[in-house]
Amino acid sequence: MDIEQLLAERARLVDSELPDLLQNIRPPELAAAVTYALGSRGKRIRPALVTLSCEAVGGSASQASFAAASIELIHSSSLVLDDVIDKSEIRRGRSTIHKMWGTDMALLTVQILAALSLKVATKDPRIIYAIADSLFYMGEGEAMELVDYAKDKNSYLELAFRKTGSLFGSAAEVGSMVGGGDEEQNRNLLEFGNHIGIAFQIRDDILDCISNEDDLGKPVKNDLFMGRPSIVLLDAINSGISIDRMMRCNNGELMHLVADSIDYAQEIAKDELDLAKSHLGELDSPAKKILIELGEYIISRSK
Ligand code: IPE
Ligand code: IPE
Ligand code: MG
Ligand code: MG
Repeated sequence: MDIEQLLAERARLVDSELPDLLQNIRPPELAAAVTYALGSRGKRIRPALVTLSCEAVGGSASQASFAAASIELIHSSSLVLDDVIDKSEIRRGRSTIHKMWGTDMALLTVQILAALSLKVATKDPRIIYAIADSLFYMGEGEAMELVDYAKDKNSYLELAFRKTGSLFGSAAEVGSMVGGGDEEQNRNLLEFGNHIGIAFQIRDDILDCISNEDDLGKPVKNDLFMGRPSIVLLDAINSGISIDRMMRCNNGELMHLVADSIDYAQEIAKDELDLAKSHLGELDSPAKKILIELGEYIISRSK
């Protein structure tokens, strides 16, 4: 299975749900910012996870398209907020919302995107509960970054679960729910999502050190310069490499300097994928194999 092709196909399902939501947003400046936020397409990994989880319990992808849209909307909302907090000027290859419309309008865009997510979720109130959980966790995770919470592997994993894993967990859980999954299946898919989400964040930390802005569509070395607790940097610091020394590196040099920490992080991402897979034992459907391939893509992706 070509995962990037699958992501593109599943993205179309979500995109078909979005235009109707953009009617009647006033004033036009706010409408423009919200439309811009939704128009810049990301990888759409979470919607793919929603629809695949739905299929994994016997449902169809189209049955889950509203749930996938709701999850992508809350994800988009969290990115606009994150870019304000991280002072990032580029996202998905374009200027960020706060750069274009200012911080105040960006914060209001966050609110509108979250409201739209909830509106879509009312079709199945169980989705509202799932979104409430991950919104809460994402807030905690983002705050943990600001107060130097993560000091070692365990506290980092706690942070990565909150900041990123929790929404992947909700994505898989709501997919299972709308597909008619039983309680055990919902729980197992939630756990699968939590762990591939943590793995996703670890790979994101690695890409911050080894990739470039053109490929990622967002700044690199942001973790280093914003003092963010990436697992690669934490391990490098704990191995005695000073932040100053890392900051003096250009991209290629940083990659070599922290090579052992990158290997270490990649191992943890692999462990998280194995943990994720251990929750799929009971499932027996073609979608299960694709979920595993999605997990493998997540830890080896280059964008
Ligand atoms: C970015 O998520 C935020 C993180 C959790 C690292 P994605 O990499 O899925 O962002 P898009 O949607 O593809 O832009
Ligand atoms: C984003 O985290 C997580 C959320 C939006 C909750 P990061 O700050 O690590 O992600 P990028 O690198 O900006 O995409
Ligand atoms: Mg950021
Ligand atoms: Mg951030």
